[in-house]
Amino acid sequence: RLVGSEMCIRDRFYRIISYRKKKCNATLKGSAIMIQKYVFGNPIATNAVVTEIKPTQEPLPFFTTDGNGTFTYSLSEEDIVYGLGEQIRGINKRGWQYVSWNYDNPNHHEDTRSLYGSHNFILIRGTKTFGAFFDYAGKMEFDIGYTKRNLMQIKAAKNDLTVYIITGENEKDIVKQFRKIIGKSYIPPLWAFGYGQSRWGYKTEQDIRDVAKQYKDAGVPLDSIYLDIDYMERYKDFTVDETRFPDLKGLAADMREQGIHLVPIIDAGVKIEDGYPVYEEGVQKNYFCKNAEGGDFVGAVWPGRVHFPDFLQPEARDWFGKKYAVLTEMGIDGFWNDMNEPAIFYTEDRLEDTCNKIKELTSGNMGIDEYFTFTGMVAGLNGNIGDYDKFYHNIDGQMVKHSEVHNLYGMNMTRSAFEALQEIRPEQRTLFFSRSSYVGAHRYGGIWQGDNKSWWSHILQSMQQLPALNMAGFLFTGCDTGGFGCDTTEDLMLRWLQYSLFTPLFRNHSADGTRQQELYQFDNFAATGEMIKIRYSLVPYLYSEFLKAALQDSMMFRPLAFDFPEDKMAQQVEDQLLLGNELMIAPIYHQNAQGRYVYLPEEMMLVRMKSHDHYETEILPQGHHYVAAALDELVFFIRNQKAIPFAAPAESTAKTDWNSVQLLGYAGASYELYTDDGISSNPESTLKISTLS
Ligand code: GLC
Repeated sequence: RLVGSEMCIRDRFYRIISYRKKKCNATLKGSAIMIQKYVFGNPIATNAVVTEIKPTQEPLPFFTTDGNGTFTYSLSEEDIVYGLGEQIRGINKRGWQYVSWNYDNPNHHEDTRSLYGSHNFILIRGTKTFGAFFDYAGKMEFDIGYTKRNLMQIKAAKNDLTVYIITGENEKDIVKQFRKIIGKSYIPPLWAFGYGQSRWGYKTEQDIRDVAKQYKDAGVPLDSIYLDIDYMERYKDFTVDETRFPDLKGLAADMREQGIHLVPIIDAGVKIEDGYPVYEEGVQKNYFCKNAEGGDFVGAVWPGRVHFPDFLQPEARDWFGKKYAVLTEMGIDGFWNDMNEPAIFYTEDRLEDTCNKIKELTSGNMGIDEYFTFTGMVAGLNGNIGDYDKFYHNIDGQMVKHSEVHNLYGMNMTRSAFEALQEIRPEQRTLFFSRSSYVGAHRYGGIWQGDNKSWWSHILQSMQQLPALNMAGFLFTGCDTGGFGCDTTEDLMLRWLQYSLFTPLFRNHSADGTRQQELYQFDNFAATGEMIKIRYSLVPYLYSEFLKAALQDSMMFRPLAFDFPEDKMAQQVEDQLLLGNELMIAPIYHQNAQGRYVYLPEEMMLVRMKSHDHYETEILPQGHHYVAAALDELVFFIRNQKAIPFAAPAESTAKTDWNSVQLLGYAGASYELYTDDGISSNPESTLKISTLS
């Protein structure tokens, strides 16, 4: 039994020893890195970690393991669990169960378990503070105090995985070390920081021209218009419907003259259609995923019956990626990759079984049990987990069941495009963002947060994902502003813009059949337009902080507690974020609210803005405050003794007058501005760091 001072001495002694061990075992260069790699079974390479680290034979610390893929950790009452990237619920992940299984799920509800990406990196802060990355490409469950309040159980479908344990000085240091081993984050071209207008429903060239004209006539800036699936001929990748878009090249050129980039969608599934070269080549070269019998696997998505390119084969990646040139040759320089979980609406055999069963169920007098079997079977067609056991990838000559590498699919689609475009147009950056991802995908592109809804709660949900996404390297991200599904309202749009104007990806996107939500559809275009102009005034700050985060492996968006670790109140704040080193945001996400309570962990300057050239500031002391904000009024906070660069708004990012940049914030404060030419493929080659004061 250890008592009193004896316990303290032993405890300290133990800590010193374990610290030394970690240092010795780390094989990375640079003595500050404290990462241990533990290999279980025979993991399939995921390509998430790009730094070579020698595995240790020592037992895994902190967790107990059953040797069967389950890892258990006892949570103390004070422990906070951060991470998991794109997931529902709070910044602190305690109290729910999450499943890493990339899933085309438009229901981002409180009881959802899986979304489009799998980012198995967590950071525990409390009794012990450390990071853990469970590098596993199949299904993985994170029960973080769901079954038992103070128990965390992490379970891989198979005991074939690599676990990395990262210790460090504090939360920011742990994240930085993790980011170092997974490689540098993707940096998009500067124009991707402008405002983008999108809608699933633009069907013709004229629709696109109308959008551009409406914004131009109102003097509201715009940098991009998105082309959803309707630009294609029968949803076939790398085709253009010639009746509805007779001259895409000409359209792209006209738009570019107005400072607008067209960004088409590319879906993962390749339509099965005789005479369609992408389909025929893929079949001929064995570039599609196979079924158990060795034939090309068939699923159904937007184009109808499709084959899925085997993005895990380097040759198939190269082949598919080079197809993007069909569009870059028409003057396109940005893409969004979709349906790449991959989404499967149904497989033919399951559809047939379902239809047969339905015939059986409806042949007699259908009772309530039969009715629920019927509806359940129909609902179970889409994204059925069993379908992911029915196809295979060719990994170095071995046929590997898709479900074992499922979470790598979307990442490798974006990798295919990124690597091919680096070859095709090496001098320039191309915009890429994807719906599906895994850790490592942050090197090839950004991600958007998927099919949210026009719900007030989805402003908060997007915001709560940002720090976790940044922890996993995803810096270029944002949500469908205004909401994708359901009908938006003018007040929701205004409040949503007041949040999204701070996110790197700033795109208004909505689903076919919902209320139209281009900003000119609402009466108060003057107010929404002002929010867009403020965004353009903030571009120098946002771009500069983005570059810093990407080049220094740091987080652009952080929970308050990461900068104020000793502040107990800051640890509980779930609806405010630090943005870069100078700002704090506290968006309003309740209908009819005319303000909100805000917690300031230090003295800060409140900024209220109705327009870029009309604002008021007020110094508020550390503590709790009620901050009033009219519907058309943006509020944000500048941190104590800091200032941000603020430019005159331009009609597009290309026209930003960097000489107009002034400092907004505390008198006497200076700011370190990072800029580059906004387009060169190696941003560091044109990086300029200047001090503004
Ligand atoms: C998916 C995408 C959405 C897109 C739609 C049609 O639901 O997530 O953004 O608009 O497909 O392509």
